[in-house]
Amino acid sequence: MSKGTFYITTPIYYPSDNLHIGHAYTTVAADAMARFKKMTGYDTWFLTGSDEHGQKIERAAKARGETPQEYVDKIVAGFKHLWKRLEVGYDDFIRTTEPRHKKVVAELFQKLYDQGDIYKASYEGWYCTPCEAFWVESRLAEGTCPDCGRSVELLQEESYFFRTSKYADRLLRHIEDHPEFIQPASRRNEMVSFINSGLEDLCVSRTTFDWGIPVPFDRKHVIYVWVDALTNYISALGYGTEDDRLFKKYWPADVHLMAKDIVRFHSVIWPILLMATGIELPRQIVGHGWLLLGSGKMSKSKGNVIDPLVLIDRYGVDAIRYYLLREMPFGSDSAYSEGALVERINKDLANDLGNLVSRSIAMVEKYFGGAVLPPGMPEGPDVELIELAGQTPAVVEEWMEKRDFSGALSAIWRLVGRSNKYVDETAPWGLAKDPAQKERLANVMYNLAESLRFITIMASPFMPSLPARVWAQLGIADRPELWTWDSLIWGRLPAGITVKRGQALFPRIDTAGLEIS
Ligand code: ME8
Ligand code: MG
Repeated sequence: MSKGTFYITTPIYYPSDNLHIGHAYTTVAADAMARFKKMTGYDTWFLTGSDEHGQKIERAAKARGETPQEYVDKIVAGFKHLWKRLEVGYDDFIRTTEPRHKKVVAELFQKLYDQGDIYKASYEGWYCTPCEAFWVESRLAEGTCPDCGRSVELLQEESYFFRTSKYADRLLRHIEDHPEFIQPASRRNEMVSFINSGLEDLCVSRTTFDWGIPVPFDRKHVIYVWVDALTNYISALGYGTEDDRLFKKYWPADVHLMAKDIVRFHSVIWPILLMATGIELPRQIVGHGWLLLGSGKMSKSKGNVIDPLVLIDRYGVDAIRYYLLREMPFGSDSAYSEGALVERINKDLANDLGNLVSRSIAMVEKYFGGAVLPPGMPEGPDVELIELAGQTPAVVEEWMEKRDFSGALSAIWRLVGRSNKYVDETAPWGLAKDPAQKERLANVMYNLAESLRFITIMASPFMPSLPARVWAQLGIADRPELWTWDSLIWGRLPAGITVKRGQALFPRIDTAGLEIS
């Protein structure tokens, strides 16, 4: 039975260049959350996509001598290929150049104009093209973009403005009344002080280039790319169209996931657009930290990027997903290094999880010809293992409610560690020498097999290709009822199954020949 709906989104990325592991982090995190929610009984919708209009894209296309459409078509095909390789199972992919999106944006803009929330004036101010952001002089940081530190351009053009200022008080009240709305709290505080320092009306159209959605009542103008882009979260659900079943079912979004660079757009412009149009606000905006490379943020426009495809080829998709989600502490930045990635693989995956699986399976084969026998009464270290296994699903759920992926994985790996310790404590090789201990040995083997089942189920949202490989070894590849979150009840693993040793799950990476930092 469904516990309700859960709608999660990633940012729609700019196809200004290929994506890097920073984007992979956000999308893999959203995918893990969506898989987790599905497993725990929610009717889930997971949206990603591409943000294809604006000056930045127009310039990138021009630089390559292509039309913007030709250019974005190629890059967006690359996005989809990457998500496939990363085993990202989105429910929908929205492109802002699709008619289904453009129609909704134009209608929304018209509505705001008709109700007097959009007016024409002349704009004179600064623009950061990499961020696609307008800045008044007073907010600049020594003449550069206060967000990214790059140079800004002076704009002087006739524009339409959105009466953002009118909604500032309502927005502040909403943020105060809903402490979960902007997470983590450090991001919320930044946003509150930003809004408190005064919201100017927002410039929402441009006339000096034309790669965008035309303003329906004045086609010299194109709609500001952030107004266009943010609307994807509802256009993809069919908002305002004949078939708005998805919108009715899934809106408001439960989580808009992103890094901190774009929390401001999502917690100021987006809620105000929704308030002005009478649409419910999303429940939560989560701004995680940045993956850093060398001295700063990994970024398409800086070019200091790591290609996830190369890493997948080298280390496998589960390892990359595990590393990203485990290594990044919740809310803060994290320096990427291939050395740390290899260390995680060798320690957490090869040594801890991989060895636990291979030695457990090998012992069942050696001592019982592969047969898992019925468990006996728990004794000694069994009690602690069973207790920890029993508690862990709820602990993982708590971390996931906090959107703390690293916390969730640490909790699962505590059980991995406890299980390895259990092997040392029970010393099955000693029990095997004494025929009188046969039942005890069978009990220990059962407990290890059951613990592996628990670990694999809980790890599956994070590492989607892991389960099939473990189920094959555990001999339950045709027993899907034993793979579910609901089946996380100790003792569900039936006796009588036959395990079968397979290839090592995570071969150790030999660091000797590797040139890694
Ligand atoms: O901002 N570390 O697109 P974008 C962590 N089109 N995450 C990173 C990252 C890094 N070094 N670099 C990028 C846009 N990201 C707009 C969004 S939404 C309506 C429009 C991730 O291609 C992170 O999620 O610049 C960040 O917020 C996003 O990519 C920015 O992607
Ligand atoms: Mg960016």
